[in-house]
Amino acid sequence: MRPTVSLLIINLYALVLSGTSSLGDDRRYLVAFLDLVEMEHEDHCENRADAAWKELIGDPKGLSAKLEKDKAFGILSREQKRDVELALDGYYMDQSDQVLRRKVQLLLHPGDTLLETEQWIRLVTFGDTALHKLRIATNYDCGTRTNCTLRELQNSIAREQDEETLLRMKRSWEKNLPSVNEYLEQILPLLRNASKENNYNGVEEYWDSLVEYEGGILKARELWDNIKPLYLKLHKYIALRLKGQEAVGESLPVHLLRSLNGDNWSNIIESLLPKHPGIYQKIHASLQLKDLGGIKAFKEAVKLIKDLGFGDIETELWTDSVFNGTCPTTFIDWCKPNKMRVMTCKDVSITNYIDAHEAAMKIKYKEITALHSNNTYILREAPRYSAIYEGIPGFVSLLALNPHALDRSGLFPLRTFSYNPNHHRLVLQLIMALRDLPKLNYYLAADEWRLKVLMGSIAPAKVASSWGEFRKNFSLLETSDVDMLGDPYILFNKPYIGKFMGLILKYQIYQSFAEELSSDESDLLQHVNETSDRLSDTMVQGFGSDWSAMVSDMLAKRENGLEYTGLTDYYRLLDEYLDKQLDPTDEEFDDYNEPIEETTENNAIPPPPVTIKPTIHELDIMPPDESENIIDVEDSHSKYSAETSTVGVLEIKKQPPVDDTKNTQEASYNTYWWIGIAVALVIIIIIIAIIARKRHNHRKQLEKQRRENTRA
Ligand SMILES: *[C@@H]1O[C@H](CO)[C@@H](O)[C@H](O)[C@H]1NC(C)=O
Ligand SMILES: *[C@@H]1O[C@H](CO)[C@@H](O)[C@H](O)[C@H]1NC(C)=O
Ligand SMILES: *[C@@H]1O[C@H](CO)[C@@H](O)[C@H](O)[C@H]1NC(C)=O
Ligand SMILES: *[C@@H]1O[C@H](CO)[C@@H](O)[C@H](O)[C@H]1NC(C)=O
Repeated sequence: MRPTVSLLIINLYALVLSGTSSLGDDRRYLVAFLDLVEMEHEDHCENRADAAWKELIGDPKGLSAKLEKDKAFGILSREQKRDVELALDGYYMDQSDQVLRRKVQLLLHPGDTLLETEQWIRLVTFGDTALHKLRIATNYDCGTRTNCTLRELQNSIAREQDEETLLRMKRSWEKNLPSVNEYLEQILPLLRNASKENNYNGVEEYWDSLVEYEGGILKARELWDNIKPLYLKLHKYIALRLKGQEAVGESLPVHLLRSLNGDNWSNIIESLLPKHPGIYQKIHASLQLKDLGGIKAFKEAVKLIKDLGFGDIETELWTDSVFNGTCPTTFIDWCKPNKMRVMTCKDVSITNYIDAHEAAMKIKYKEITALHSNNTYILREAPRYSAIYEGIPGFVSLLALNPHALDRSGLFPLRTFSYNPNHHRLVLQLIMALRDLPKLNYYLAADEWRLKVLMGSIAPAKVASSWGEFRKNFSLLETSDVDMLGDPYILFNKPYIGKFMGLILKYQIYQSFAEELSSDESDLLQHVNETSDRLSDTMVQGFGSDWSAMVSDMLAKRENGLEYTGLTDYYRLLDEYLDKQLDPTDEEFDDYNEPIEETTENNAIPPPPVTIKPTIHELDIMPPDESENIIDVEDSHSKYSAETSTVGVLEIKKQPPVDDTKNTQEASYNTYWWIGIAVALVIIIIIIAIIARKRHNHRKQLEKQRRENTRA
């Protein structure tokens, strides 16, 4: 196909240059010319995707094929820019001719591919080779063995407890990273040249143009200043839990967070859970029990996406993807409607489950964009970093842990959730915060540091050790000086600001829907399904215009731009919880454990009869959260009985009657005794249910009052 397209272009090119008569003809020629340019791009994309896929699945010729195609792509891009300039010569595009102007603008400013050929080749060779080496290496240290794969390393790190071993694992990974000196001398400075080739005065302005947000870095800094307090609280809380009071406020070594570069702290969640972690344990256990990793996690994600009204995902994804490879998920796009594949791992974890939702929605996003016939190649695949393209899939991943979604996927019953909604929400917020807050910080750190190095504001002698220094000050993390070199965005000189803004936007999208609900208990998924047009309308537009111009409509005109409040409001419960944890003298701290007082205050139920009093007294020490577990045992969800009892066992110790049940089960089968226990259980359940309901109502009332107060 390529020779034909090239030939056509030459012919057309001659035609365009041969001089034309009328303006209408000029436009027609230009449009036809652009169509051909886009066709050639599509052709290249297909070849590059084939090569990238080969490399990904470990084909021996994969890397060389990938390098060859990636090099060719830069050469193509430079040629086409020249051709478009020539074709444009003398033709003035009308202001109203928006789609045409947009296409021309994108083709004239493709970004790094405009680098001189030698420099472009250097960039892709460095990145492709580095990632390939990391992926195929088998010399990682997994603690017990020193010759394991990246996937085994990731799994071992997630579980390892010993600090020394964790450090050794991380070092074995660092040994496979490319040379930091080569990066600092040969790769990073290419950004200066790339910004020149694209006609920008400096890298910051150049990156702003690629993200299509003027003053993007400044805006990100401003947003971060408002999120930083929450980040610091989470950081202090982790220090407190992992290392004790004296470590609070000090920097934390990333290997202690069981992370290679500190951009995700999810692996330490079990050390951070609040007193009643039932929901975490149950989701964790249910995921294992249902083996919801790899393809199953994706299928579950697609179910949610269908529930939200975005439709199914084409079948090729299922037949041609690799679901037993490595994480994080990589996805390859053939730049054709509906031809995409993923490479992901089959390991079951909450993180992978959430990631699967995000990846599946990115695929759906591309499908929806491609469905719109006006979106030709460049309007689908523009070399731009759109926050919306990050934000909408991020929003869907947030919904993966929505109580209604958890209920539908059989991970946690809604009924149980509603006994202690705020407590459960807190735990879910912790799960999300450990993913997203370190990411926000990392994204900004990566961009700020690179700009600093490029602007020469770090003494040359210190540059090589400046990443670790920067992370220490900016993130309060102890990293190495080289760990950023495992990251494709760093290796290929890509800006992170688009992703940073996408994370901010994700919470704004969530808030825009959540605020429309009549109550916190309503079904958000159902509501999104009914009003998802504003998301679909946005996705349909692809890169037809700047993403920032679409934000207002997407958020139902609530906000015109990025606001940090979506995120901070989302984490309100976590924020309060962290405050209390960091200041144990806080009176409110025990609020959760004393349901009785609030209930009697309320006076809605008569004082309990004397005979049951001892039982109620027991409830005093037993936090209301326990109720869910008891009721669960009664729940005839036989499917979950296994993990229910695992969770139950933890609580049983505090409850003599249930404990006895277990013992007697083995010892005697006295029916009368059983009946007695059953009656006692039923009474306990009823009382707990009443108290939970009361407390719930009471808290809701308090909250309502508080909201009214703050409003007044
Ligand atoms: C790699 O590890 C396996 C399993 O522990 C072992 O049998 C094998 O000998 C090791 N190979 C090398 C080259 O160390
Ligand atoms: C940037 O471009 C200039 C001029 O072409 C060249 O001399 C320089 O080596 C380039 N920078 C890098 C890092 O290759
Ligand atoms: C992954 O699954 C495919 C087929 O389902 C199988 O051929 C391949 O060996 C598996 N790979 C690994 C690493 O388990
Ligand atoms: C999209 O294409 C249709 C015809 O296919 C045309 O009527 C419409 O104006 C186009 N929209 C834009 C924004 O160009």
